[in-house]
Amino acid sequence: MHKKIENHIPDWEKKGLEHIWLPYTQMKDASSPLPVQSTQGVTITLEDGRTLIDGIASWWSACHGYQHPHIIEQMHRQIDQLPHIMFAGFAHQPAYTLAQRLVEITPKGLDRVFFSDSGSTAVEVALKMAVQYWYNQDEKQKNKFICFHNSYHGDTMGCMSVADPDGMHSIFSRYMPKQYHMDLPNDEYSFDEFELLLDSIKNLVAGLIIEPLVQAAGGMKFHSPDILAEIHRLCKERNILFIVDEIATGFGRTGEMFACDEAAISPDIMCLGKSLTGGTISLAATLASKDIFDGFLSDTLEHAFMHGPTFMANPIACAAANASLDLFEDRSILTKISDIEIQLTKELAQCTALKNVADVRVKGAIGVVELEEITWKEIFAMRQKFLEHGVYLRPFGNVIYVMPSYTITKEELSRLTRSIFEVLSHG
Ligand SMILES: Cc1ncc(COP(=O)(O)O)c(C=O)c1O
Repeated sequence: MHKKIENHIPDWEKKGLEHIWLPYTQMKDASSPLPVQSTQGVTITLEDGRTLIDGIASWWSACHGYQHPHIIEQMHRQIDQLPHIMFAGFAHQPAYTLAQRLVEITPKGLDRVFFSDSGSTAVEVALKMAVQYWYNQDEKQKNKFICFHNSYHGDTMGCMSVADPDGMHSIFSRYMPKQYHMDLPNDEYSFDEFELLLDSIKNLVAGLIIEPLVQAAGGMKFHSPDILAEIHRLCKERNILFIVDEIATGFGRTGEMFACDEAAISPDIMCLGKSLTGGTISLAATLASKDIFDGFLSDTLEHAFMHGPTFMANPIACAAANASLDLFEDRSILTKISDIEIQLTKELAQCTALKNVADVRVKGAIGVVELEEITWKEIFAMRQKFLEHGVYLRPFGNVIYVMPSYTITKEELSRLTRSIFEVLSHG
C-alpha cells in the first residue's frame, strides 16, 4: 500500500502503519513518513541514521530549536512535581505566572488569558467569546465574522468557516456556518469598497478575524503594517471586534515579538499557539481585553463563558511556555531574527531569475519562493529532492518556504537556501 523510500524500516513503523491515519494524506498511495529517531537543535536524525536540517521547525513551532536545555529542564521539573491537574477548581503556579507574563508582553489592553490545547481551539474560543460578548449585551444578531480569502485558522468547524472558502475545507461548505469572506483590501479603491461592505453588515457581525501581516498556510502572503492598522481602525470605528490569529506570526516570527506590534495596534482578542511552548508540547491561549472580559460579568451563569478543555493550562505545557519566555527575555533573539531576514533576503534573491519563479519574498524569519505553476505530483517530487540534499522542506501549493528555528546557524540556513536554488535549477 505504501511506497517505501528507504530500506531501514523499524518494526514499530511496519506494524503501526497499518493502523495509523495520517494528516493531509491520501492514504491509498501515500509514501511512508520518515521514521524519526531523535531531534537536536535544528537537526532531525532518522532511524536509518540520516540527518536533516529542519527548515520549517515542526510546522513553525520549534522556535528555539529542538531539545533546548532550559525548556527541557523546566518540563522535567514540572513532570516530577505536578504533571497535570484539571483547571476548574484548582490553580497552579505555572499557569498563573504564564498568564501574567503573556499580558505583560502582548499589546497593551489585552488583560485576560484563556488557555486551551491547540491553535484551532484557541481560535474557536476567540470566535465563541466574540459571539457571546454581543449575546450578553443583548445584541444577538451580531454573530457572524468577516474573514479573508487565503486565510487559514485551523481545521475545526469554526476555524474552517473563517478560512478561505475555496481552500481545502470547501467540501464542508454545506456543513459550516456562513461568514463574510472578503479580499484583503490593499489600495485606496479596495479600501473604499471594504468600508462600504463593513457599513452594510456591521450590525450582523461579531468580529473580524485576521492573520496579521502574514497569511501563512493560505499561501504565505504578506500585507503591510499600514494595511493591518487601517483595517483595525475601520473595525474600531464600527464596533466590530478585531481578532488577531497570531498562532503562526507570534513570538518573533515576523520580526517583532508580535505582528501587531509592527502596526502598533491592540486587538480585542488575540490567539496564540505553536511557538508558545517553544514547540515542545501543545498549548494555546486566547487573550481578551478588559472590555471583552467585563462583558461576561453578571449575576447569571448564562453570561459566563462555558468552555473548558480537559487539558487546558496543562502544567507541563505552561512550564515549557514559561521557559520559552525566559529565553525571549534575551532580546538578542529579535536581532537574530533580523539577521535571518537579511540572510534569507540575500540568498533567496538568486531564485528570482529562475524559470517558473513568480515571486521571492521575506518577512522576519519567513522566506518564500512562489512558483508560477506546479502540480501536486511535482511538489511531492520536490520534497523528495530536498531530502536528498539533507534538508527538510515541505512546499505546498505553489509555495516553497523556509521558517526555521531562530537558533539556526548561518551555515545551516545557507544549506537550506542553496538546496532551494539547486532543486529549482536542476530538479
Ligand atoms: C494562523 C493559524 N491559526 C491556527 C492554526 C491551527 O493551529 P493548530 O494546528 O495548533 O490547531 C494554524 C496552524 O497552522 C495557523 O497557522
